[in-house]
Amino acid sequence: MRKLAAVLSAALVLGACTGQPSSDATGEQIYRQICANCHGPNLEGRVGPALGPGSNAATQPDSYLETTILRGRGSMPSFRSTLDDEQVQRVISFIREVQGG
Ligand code: HEC
Repeated sequence: MRKLAAVLSAALVLGACTGQPSSDATGEQIYRQICANCHGPNLEGRVGPALGPGSNAATQPDSYLETTILRGRGSMPSFRSTLDDEQVQRVISFIREVQGG
């Protein structure tokens, strides 16, 4: 039940904050707008797993991140209709910068 409540509240937060990021949004802006609620402002993890240095995501190839963002994974929704290809690449670059930094 706790897990369900967490997923439902994440869905509510997501619903409240979703909106298309502007086409020229940076990777960081996209992350803050649509990923941070679930993955934490510093990629430290929240409802979703950590994505920063030392995380599983840091060991995965870009294609894994791309597939996750486009198709969704587990309770993470798909962002295929929210982000265009360039925005997906920008948010991946931002995650890589944080992982490397
Ligand atoms: C509604 C909450 C939510 C949002 C918003 C969200 N995610 Fe996730 N994300 C999750 C959850 C939950 C998982 C774990 C899925 C699983 O493995 O079952 C996950 C998994 C991932 C993974 C794989 C991590 C791993 O170690 O396997 C990546 C990469 C990822 N998310 C990136 C993103 C990016 C980038 C965004 C923004 C475009 C985003 N997520 C938005 C909830 C979310």
